Order: sequence, then structure tokens, then C-alpha cells
Amino acid sequence: MSQDPERAKEQAGRHAAGYVSDDMRVGLGTGSTVRYTILELGERAKAGLDIVCTATSQQTHDLASSLGLRVVPPDQLGGLDIAIDGADEVDRDFNLTKGGGGAHTREKIVAEMAPRFIVVVDRSKMVDHLGPFGTPLEVLDFAPGLVADKVRSLGAAHVDTREARSDNGNLIMDAHFGVIEDPVWLGQQLKRITGLVEHGIFPGNLVERVVVADPNGVEVLTRFGPD
Ligand code: 5RP
Repeated sequence: MSQDPERAKEQAGRHAAGYVSDDMRVGLGTGSTVRYTILELGERAKAGLDIVCTATSQQTHDLASSLGLRVVPPDQLGGLDIAIDGADEVDRDFNLTKGGGGAHTREKIVAEMAPRFIVVVDRSKMVDHLGPFGTPLEVLDFAPGLVADKVRSLGAAHVDTREARSDNGNLIMDAHFGVIEDPVWLGQQLKRITGLVEHGIFPGNLVERVVVADPNGVEVLTRFGPD
């Protein structure tokens, strides 16, 4: 039986809130799937769950605050116990494409603060290879053409600039590499481009588990197989 994709997002998002318990410092991602995690945490906070959060976007900050969750800047926490976020693509090694919402720089900072990084997706995000979605890039608005040239020299067929900017006020571009055979290598090369603030490839070794939902329910994957 087919299922509303929104229902799968809700199942994955709400399931992941189960990894959060009292006294945790929690990183909150951005997007329509982790939104359900935040809603669930808001409901649990009203029932007494005691946590402090940091947010990866203004949108998430506003949502979490409106639900009564305590949200503070990352520097105020120094570290996190857990971070939960969505993704645009997840490959078999748990490498991720992120940045569909243009929030990947803050999302990467927050994911790197947490020893436990949980990814929440509906099944459509699971891919053999990263690439078809495009690779989001946050770029300083000083010499974006030069940055795009360097990105093309790494194999991007084209690089498009979005109209919307990031919460940091920078440009967001999408680079189209086709199928990315070695995302970790590509991520390292992109990182070396001056003026490219951050790219949306997250290496799989950041990820503890992926919560995937589809019409059959929720499956939790670790890099070593089903949980
Ligand atoms: C935002 C992101 C999101 O996590 C990603 O785009 C997935 O969003 P959604 O759950 O709405 O599909 O990286 O920058």
C-alpha cells in the first residue's frame, strides 16, 4: 500500500526524538523531516523533558523556541550530546548530501559538535551514489565566478546560483557533478577553495545512525547494518 511521503518523514523524525533524554544538549537540524523531531521534543518538553538545544537555522530556532524548547548559541554549550538532522541524499557508506535548505554550514558545525549524529530521512533519500541532487555550496559574495570556475575544474558540469541566501548572508550555489564516485575526496578538494565557505558533502564517519521510514515503517541503520 502506498503511503504519503509526509507520513514517512513524520515517522522518521518523531522516532529519532526517542534518542533524546533528560539533561542532554541537543543539536537541531533544519528541514521538513527533522521538523517532526522538533515537534516531538516540544511535546515531550511540555511533559517535563529537560534539555537545552542549539539550532542550525533561524527557522529551526524560531520553531523550537515557539514550542518552549530552550535554544542557545553553539558557543554557549561548547559541545553536544546528540545532533539530529535530515539529508538530501544518503549513500551506502552514510556519506550525505545536505544543504537543500541552504543551511549546511551551520548544520556541519553542529553535527561536528556531537558524538552522536542521527540522520532522519524518508526512503527516497537513500541512493547508491551521491550526486543527482547536486552539491550545495555556500560561497562568499566577493568573487563567486572565480569560485565557480574552480568548482567546474573539479568536474562540475554546471554551477547554479540560488536566489535565496544563507542565514549567514552568503550565496548558495548548486554544483552538478553527476554521479560522485568518491565523495570524501571531492569534499576535501572543495574545502580547499578559498571563498567557498562550506560544501554540503558530509562524510559518513560523522553519522552514527540513519533513521529511514517508508510505507513498511521505520528502519534504523548503522554503518554495520540494521540496528
Ligand atoms: C537543509 C538540509 C536538510 O536537512 C535537507 O535539505 C533535508 O530536508 P528535508 O527533510 O526537508 O527533505 O540539509 O540545509
